[in-house]
Amino acid sequence: MSALVCTECQARHPLTAPIWRCRCGGLLDIVHTPKLDPAAVAKLPPTPHAQPITMGEGFTPLLPIKLERVRFLAKLDQLFPTGSFKDRGAAVLMSQVAALRIRTVVEDSSGNAGCAIAAYGARARIVCHIYVPSANSPGKLAQIAAYGARLHRVPGTRQNTADATLAAAEKAYYASHVWNPFFFEGTKTWAYEVCEQMGWRAPDAVVLPVGNGSLLLGAAIGFRELRDMGIIGDVPRLIGVQAEGCAPLAQAYKQGLAEPTLVEAAQTVAEGIAIAAPVRGRQILEAIHASRGTVLTVDDDALAAVQHALAQQGLYVEPTAAAGPAGVVRVRQLGVLPAGATVVTSLTGHGLKTLHA
Ligand SMILES: Cc1ncc(COP(=O)(O)O)c(C=O)c1O
Ligand SMILES: [Zn+2]
Repeated sequence: MSALVCTECQARHPLTAPIWRCRCGGLLDIVHTPKLDPAAVAKLPPTPHAQPITMGEGFTPLLPIKLERVRFLAKLDQLFPTGSFKDRGAAVLMSQVAALRIRTVVEDSSGNAGCAIAAYGARARIVCHIYVPSANSPGKLAQIAAYGARLHRVPGTRQNTADATLAAAEKAYYASHVWNPFFFEGTKTWAYEVCEQMGWRAPDAVVLPVGNGSLLLGAAIGFRELRDMGIIGDVPRLIGVQAEGCAPLAQAYKQGLAEPTLVEAAQTVAEGIAIAAPVRGRQILEAIHASRGTVLTVDDDALAAVQHALAQQGLYVEPTAAAGPAGVVRVRQLGVLPAGATVVTSLTGHGLKTLHA
């Protein structure tokens, strides 16, 4: 039976419960038994939700790229309706919110998740209160406001914004891309698409930017389901990429810790992954260890160089979205993977979002 399951007290709640965390305060995961017939997908895509809130998103191109003599594949997730991969999660989460007949939600974000929740909220006529750090990209804040969401600018760090939102979530449903497990049911489609586009095979490794892990954990869920259904042999190695200036997961990985280390709120051009205290940090580290992956860091100079090099090939991404490709190059420099390994990353956000930068 499908259910929401608490990661702390193991309590089970029905999928239709209008909750975003357990009574005990614990993080919720979704358990269910996936069923997929690749042959049927080719004929007719399955309809996952009775009344989806959708803009026809998904199935972004999987493009071969060469950077500093390194060859890899990248999902062009900057091409989503709101310009980032966060639409994967927002489409599923806001479909669930609409089905539950919830009329008002709160969400906090460095910008892109806020854009996605606000856009899908607008389509479903759900009132969205979006909390953002006041110093983040003005383009993202303008985009959130354009969708008609109520924008709350919070001075200080990303953590200050998260704290303000948790307080607001005492009274409203928290459409969180971190806490809410339905968001990960959307981001897991990244793994399904990669496999389908590779002829129902998994790559050897995936290299993904990681702040709160909404893409990396979604990918982990998707690949695990594909493995459990016997469609792929094994989960690819999951390699997380953090900014040198804010790397609680990379530090924990290096030190062999199960929980992220405490870091100072940091200065980095990669605002999307400047997360000092990732709520699902333990889960992220577990998923990486289970796949024999790793977490590495890239500095702002490397991000700027890769952002520029991609633009020279026609691919305009925001600084945070250079982290995946920069991580692939780093993986090669460090010799983490055997030569000839197939590696897939994502261009997670559009360059038009950060024109001021
Ligand atoms: C462009 C971009 N890439 C990657 C990420 C990282 O996502 P997560 O924090 O869920 O790991 C974000 C998050 O906001 C983002 O905006
Ligand atoms: Zn619980």
